[in-house]
This record gives sequence, structure tokens and C-alpha cells, in this order.
Amino acid sequence: MENPIETIEKNRDAIEKIVLNAGHYMKDHPPQIKEVHRKAGLANFVTDEDVQIQKDLIEEFEKIFPSCSFYGEEDTAGNNKNAKKGFCFFIDPIDGTTNFIFGYNHSCVSVGIGYDGKILAGFVYNPFADTFYSAVRGHGSLLNGNRLQIRNSSLAEGIVSFGCARYNEGDTDALFQIAKELYLESLSIREGGSAALDICRIAAGANVAYLELKLNPYDYAAASIIVEEAGGVIAQVSDSPITLDMPCSILAGTKKATEEVRTICNKYLK
Ligand code: IPD
Ligand code: CA
Ligand code: CA
Repeated sequence: MENPIETIEKNRDAIEKIVLNAGHYMKDHPPQIKEVHRKAGLANFVTDEDVQIQKDLIEEFEKIFPSCSFYGEEDTAGNNKNAKKGFCFFIDPIDGTTNFIFGYNHSCVSVGIGYDGKILAGFVYNPFADTFYSAVRGHGSLLNGNRLQIRNSSLAEGIVSFGCARYNEGDTDALFQIAKELYLESLSIREGGSAALDICRIAAGANVAYLELKLNPYDYAAASIIVEEAGGVIAQVSDSPITLDMPCSILAGTKKATEEVRTICNKYLK
């Protein structure tokens, strides 16, 4: 049987083209008010573009990987069962939907490829800034074709990004106490509204860490390998490995900065 990493490498150009096309579709279809719909929970939106992009991605990937499974954000309830068997594509058709609706130009298509429960590749494309992050296990991380390698910067040397969503409001008080401390201990903090892009920015050296207390596998799968292959680390706040079949907390960054953020988190989280 062919090595799964070789299978991905062999199809890499085709995979990247599919992700690029999906991003171009996003950029060319700004959402109209009538296309914005609410999902369960506060301020949790989905646009017709989220649904269309996921449908197109699945159709295209199935042509190259006929027996693979999918764990995507839209219309795929229950498909976390697929996360650990053979090839699984973790798809967030638009990460940063609220940004997309309000014209922030900071949203992306995020596709992670796992094999038997391990992420082997990630592709994250922001069509508004034309930034394409990619990584294949053992082959490094790239931004628009240029190799990324981070320095082991501390909290005091950089910007820390964090995420929070109105539909995941547990621990809001603790999160903002942590955010205040991160602000005081770093150069500054950001809440960018696209976890995938904000984690990828660690790989590019723009953020030293990223924290979110609850994220879904399709939000972080692709970015997780992009940060690791650039020399960073990603785990849960507890330091347990990230899960791929259920939501978990995410702490990513340089080794030094994540240790510092973890110490701060432990003061506020039970
Ligand atoms: C959201 C974004 C946001 C993060 C939320 C995610 P969506 O994804 O990544 O930055 O804070 O937790 O749900 O809904 O825009 O795909
Ligand atoms: Ca998302
Ligand atoms: Ca999404």
C-alpha cells in the first residue's frame, strides 16, 4: 500500500488548486443579507457561500480520494465518527464567517487531511490577502511557496492572539482575565475572528501564541500542522494532545510563549 504522505504529495498541486478555487469563489461572492442564516446559539451564522463552498470542495476531493471521508462544518452532523479512519478531510469552507459577513477581509478556506487519526497535511487560503499557507508532515510549512521557520520567542517579544465566540460563552470571565494578563505580559493582543488564520500567523512569525478555550477540529486541523511544521507547538490548554473527533481547547505558539500562556491560564481556569 502507498504511504499516505506520498499519496498527498503526489496530489498536492491538485489539492492546492481546489482550495485556491474555493477561496476565489468566496472573494467573488460577498454575502447578501438574504443569504445569511442563523445556526444554534448566539451570533452563530452560516451563509449560502459556506454551504456551497463545502459542497464544491467535497465533490472535487472525492474525485482524487474516492474512498476518503469528510468532517466539515456545514451539514455534516455526526461525521466526527470519520475522524480517525483512513483518509479524512477536515473542512472549514469559510473560517471567519462573521468577518466575511461584515467585510473584514480576514477569512479563509481551511482543509486539513488526516490519516488514521493523525493530521498529515494542511491548506489554509485567505483570498482577500492572497495568503496561502500549506504544510505536509515532514516537508515543512510554506507561505505562498516560501518556507516558514519560527524563532522560539517569548510572550514579551510578540503579539498574542486569542479567540472567543458568542455561541461558546462558558468561561468568558476567566478568558478575559487571562486576556488582560496576556495584554500586560506581551507586546499586544488580537482577536482576529479566524482561528485558522490566527494560528497560521504563528507560523509566519506574526503571533507568538494563540489561545481559544473551545474549538472544533475543522477549525484547527489544517492550522495545527502548519504551526508544527514551522517549528511551533499545539496542544490543549491542559497540555493533552489535540483531539480530532470532538471540540477541545487550543493553545498554539512558540514553545516558550505557550509555556508562559499555560501558566497564566492555570491561574484562572478550574
Ligand atoms: C470561528 C472562528 C473564530 C473562532 C470561533 C470559530 P467560523 O469559526 O474561527 O475565530 O473564535 O470559535 O467558531 O464560525 O467563522 O467558521
Ligand atoms: Ca471555523
Ligand atoms: Ca466556518
